[in-house]
Amino acid sequence: MSEIKHVAIIMDGNGRWAKQRFRPRIWGHVRGSAVVSSIVQSASDRGLKALTLYAFSTENWSRPVDEVSTLFKLLRKFLLKEKERILSNNIKFKVIGEIGNLPKETIKLINEVEESTKDATGLFLTFAFSYGSRAEIIKAVNTFIESNPNKEITEADIKKYFYRPEAGDVDLMIRTGGEQRISNFLLWQIAYAELYFTPTKWPEFTSNEFCKILDQVSMRERRFGNVSSQNDLMDSCEQADANKANFLKESITDV
Ligand code: IPE
Ligand code: IPE
Ligand code: MG
Repeated sequence: MSEIKHVAIIMDGNGRWAKQRFRPRIWGHVRGSAVVSSIVQSASDRGLKALTLYAFSTENWSRPVDEVSTLFKLLRKFLLKEKERILSNNIKFKVIGEIGNLPKETIKLINEVEESTKDATGLFLTFAFSYGSRAEIIKAVNTFIESNPNKEITEADIKKYFYRPEAGDVDLMIRTGGEQRISNFLLWQIAYAELYFTPTKWPEFTSNEFCKILDQVSMRERRFGNVSSQNDLMDSCEQADANKANFLKESITDV
């Protein structure tokens, strides 16, 4: 069993879901945004430490203008509707990404929700919006170099300058919609994450499926490059001691 503390989700499949129903892609986004609240609630109820949701990538800027502006509007609508619930659930909210090009009133609202939840001690809820992982890594490296021009950078230094260092490494990354790729999301943070790809398109993703995935993945054995589970690990340590003793004995006999 392994404890899952930080879950990241690539909320994909809105457009295809709508297309299958002969509706415009935008309809898929509208229906998809309604799913977000229930997944946030489940994550909070389950006591996860962090939930990071991929809502808009740097690459998504290349989509048609009306689709992009709908996504901005949906973010704003979500925050207006959910800000009280976020607060009452003790959730600490943050947006990661380069949001400078978003409409001014949306940036203002994001800042307000971040500010009003800054002392919350529950779930770290992060929306990745206008987010790209490569850009995040480059930014972290450049910020470090600026203040430490002659120092060699370490892993800890890089992490420190990410948009939300306190969320930590990702334990589980889920992608809905059937594609099996990462699409520039949290590349550094998923180094040892468990990956789960579901064919369910985001507008049809439910709390029930989310909980089942969490239950299932928490049964997986995560080895982090080591050998086996804790018990086996002790056995293998004992084995290592035995091997060492044998090796020493043989070496002495050889001499
Ligand atoms: C995910 O759904 C939402 C965003 C990327 C903003 P898509 O819009 O990518 O839906 P598909 O993958 O085309 O079905
Ligand atoms: C990834 O989905 C981004 C979000 C879900 C926000 P995309 O639909 O943009 O990814 P690709 O283009 O299929 O890789
Ligand atoms: Mg997609």
